[in-house]
Amino acid sequence: MLPEDFELAARFVKDRSGLVLTRDKVYLLENRLMPVVRDLRLKSVSELLAGIASGDAALQTTVIDAMMAKDTGFFRDWKPFVHFRTVVLPNIRVSRGMKTRFRILSAGVSTGQEAHSIAMTIRDVSSSFPGWQVEVIGIDISATAIAAASKGIYSQFDVQRGLPVRTLLQYFTKQEDAWVLNDAVRGMVKCQPWNLLDDLFSLGRFDAIFCRNVLVYFDLKTKLDVLQKLARLLVDDGVLYLGLNETVTGVSSNFRAVDPALGIYAAHRADRPASLSLAAKVDL
Ligand SMILES: C[S@@+](CC[C@H](N)C(=O)[O-])C[C@H]1O[C@@H](n2cnc3c(N)ncnc32)[C@H](O)[C@@H]1O
Repeated sequence: MLPEDFELAARFVKDRSGLVLTRDKVYLLENRLMPVVRDLRLKSVSELLAGIASGDAALQTTVIDAMMAKDTGFFRDWKPFVHFRTVVLPNIRVSRGMKTRFRILSAGVSTGQEAHSIAMTIRDVSSSFPGWQVEVIGIDISATAIAAASKGIYSQFDVQRGLPVRTLLQYFTKQEDAWVLNDAVRGMVKCQPWNLLDDLFSLGRFDAIFCRNVLVYFDLKTKLDVLQKLARLLVDDGVLYLGLNETVTGVSSNFRAVDPALGIYAAHRADRPASLSLAAKVDL
């Protein structure tokens, strides 16, 4: 790939999605763009980049989608979901007073496993929330990932990544060689295409936000911008879950650490009640 082609592509991808591509990622760019070149029967990556430079919006969207790393799994890293079930959900139940409603955001939801893991976790303890209105919102810049997430249909390979057999049999039905998530869980989750670089305020407020394994691809300024926007979406005793290799430390003062080894942070509000029990450790 010509150096000027790489520069053009890297700048475009960074401006549109936040993904930083350093010079040593030429192979990544080529690997992810070659299938697009083949699908569109173009001659080369250079021809694809010329289309982007000419302002072809559909092509630009396709390229951003192709460039995203969408690897995910059910109950990824497991312990954050234990914290959510044993600390955050009980806290919500006792602290909301008359407001029998809560909302969870999965930002960078990819093909839906994260949002569906959240929904299954809530479903497991649904007897504690009789009559409550619960919403899990999944957003992702990739329209193809969101289309897959909305279907809730997974392969044998997908369900083998992190889903306990008991949970699989409880919430999924086997149809030919695919596993279909049941309507009750799927109905709790709404997924929509959304860019984290855009305004997020119209998504509304959330009691917990999962933004896991997304910020790791951004530079410091983009991480700060996104974290600031996420902080504004969290309710006063809201919780933020990042990936295990991600942190707010040295990036944003909008959060305080709850259990940084598990990527768990709380919204930093001066008037936060000191008694709040979010700091409970997850011991397994
Ligand atoms: C590695 S996956 C992580 C999926 C899931 N959160 C997890 O931890 O398993 C990262 C996801 O973030 C999405 N993403 C990257 N940049 C984004 C942006 N600017 N806005 C919204 N989603 C983005 C990608 O499309 C991808 O699906």
